[in-house]
Amino acid sequence: MKVIYTKDYNEISEVCTDLIIEQLQEKSDSILGLATGSSPIKVYQNLIKAYEDKQISFKDVKTYNLDEYIGIDKQNENSYFYFMHDQLFNHIDIDHCNVNFPETNIDHQLACDNYNEKLFNNKVDLQLLGIGTNGHIGFNEPGTSFESTTHVIELDIQTRLDNQSFFNSLEEVPTHAITMGIKNILDAKKIIIIASGLKKAPTIKRLLEGERSEEFPASILFDHDEVYLIIDEEAASLLD
Ligand code: F6R
Repeated sequence: MKVIYTKDYNEISEVCTDLIIEQLQEKSDSILGLATGSSPIKVYQNLIKAYEDKQISFKDVKTYNLDEYIGIDKQNENSYFYFMHDQLFNHIDIDHCNVNFPETNIDHQLACDNYNEKLFNNKVDLQLLGIGTNGHIGFNEPGTSFESTTHVIELDIQTRLDNQSFFNSLEEVPTHAITMGIKNILDAKKIIIIASGLKKAPTIKRLLEGERSEEFPASILFDHDEVYLIIDEEAASLLD
């Protein structure tokens, strides 16, 4: 794992954007694995700017999002489908047929099987990740098998509390989601994980100084050959 220390959220976003731009310039038909949440918002803004400046095109790019809430309609502004369209896809030249999410409105096992099959046939070139305060990647909560593929997950109470700010109340935060599994994530050729702010400091300390364990899902990333962890001063503030 290559750790890149930056000053703040803006610098994390710049470094991360540059790596994605490099990827798209080297391979215009790249397959990107994408994350939602607050961490990648600025990266997506930067990518829109790079597209407008004609540095990159998404014309031949395919995307696979990590996860989607169960029980929320695609058109609902809290769905990850909505989030990604609002933050990125509606502002770039991506072919909307090339945008992929786990489907949550069909039989869940079928949805998981479909997503696994798609991912098997479309190896992700670059996977962007955030990290949950509990060490989750995607929605692979503590205790998820390192061998897991796309599956239904009951969200940890910590995850629901962390994501509550996007909703009116904790009751509105979904209890379940479909997420790519750990194995799907590790299949990506290159992985970038970003973490910013004091809230992530204990998580980053555990990631870099703790043990490899299914109780801390992100610890599996040390098994991968090409991972870039980009953090800022606040997220790094508890490191020895
Ligand atoms: C989002 C996802 C999650 C988030 C993580 C961090 O699609 O899979 O793993 O990346 O919960 O969220 P933020 O960035 O809001 O701190």
